Amino acid sequence: MEKRQIIFKVAKQVKALLQDESSGHDWWHAFRVWKMAERIAKKEKANEFVVSLAALLHDIADWKFYDGDESEGPKQAAKILRQYGVQAPVIQHVCQIIKDMSFKGAKVKTPMKTLEGKIAQDADRLDALGAIGIARAFAFGSYKRGSIYDPKIKPAFHRSKQQYFANKSSTINHFYEKLLLLKDRMNTKTARSLALGRHKFMVSYLKKFFKEWKGKQ
Ligand code: ADP
Ligand code: NI
Repeated sequence: MEKRQIIFKVAKQVKALLQDESSGHDWWHAFRVWKMAERIAKKEKANEFVVSLAALLHDIADWKFYDGDESEGPKQAAKILRQYGVQAPVIQHVCQIIKDMSFKGAKVKTPMKTLEGKIAQDADRLDALGAIGIARAFAFGSYKRGSIYDPKIKPAFHRSKQQYFANKSSTINHFYEKLLLLKDRMNTKTARSLALGRHKFMVSYLKKFFKEWKGKQ
């Protein structure tokens, strides 16, 4: 099967899998990450086949929904790719990217081993920023049954994946615990410059949020 055809078949499968997802990890998240990753891959002259597959498949079984288990996502992705006769080294590369991709706490490093991984990670992180990032954060916050904001709970900089995973603080805290840190953790120049605009928008959103919280606006 041709590479383009495989990508479209995989996209169709991911769409079916993530159709009814309501925590911000839905099909349209995968779609946006895919398109953004493709765009960066063209600029950076990376392997577009690997980047597209990793972007599409990165959230089909995220560890956050599997009790912290990082092996389920790569396992399910490999199963899909084998159906289309994708070569073993490509499957291995895509699965490694999926495994390494997630943010796991402010003090936890999440380095990517290859250019393709760096690009997929950047595209995923861009989707956590800006207007869309704000919408997704509140969607996930409600899935986690956390509050919108609680002034009594201070933001924390998590030192391990376990701490980050167990965290029960508010969605506004999540901006300080992750979202505002992402602009400095982008891997590629293209993503860094897009991240900056999205970052500024979140900063102004937070300013207004706190003004309204205090009844000043
Ligand atoms: P990552 O794999 O890096 O976590 P995802 O694509 O899985 O990225 O996106 C996770 C989404 O859920 C992001 O938009 C993120 O900001 C949001 N999120 C994660 N944890 C929380 C939380 N505790 N409160 C609110 N939003 C959260
Ligand atoms: Ni994602």
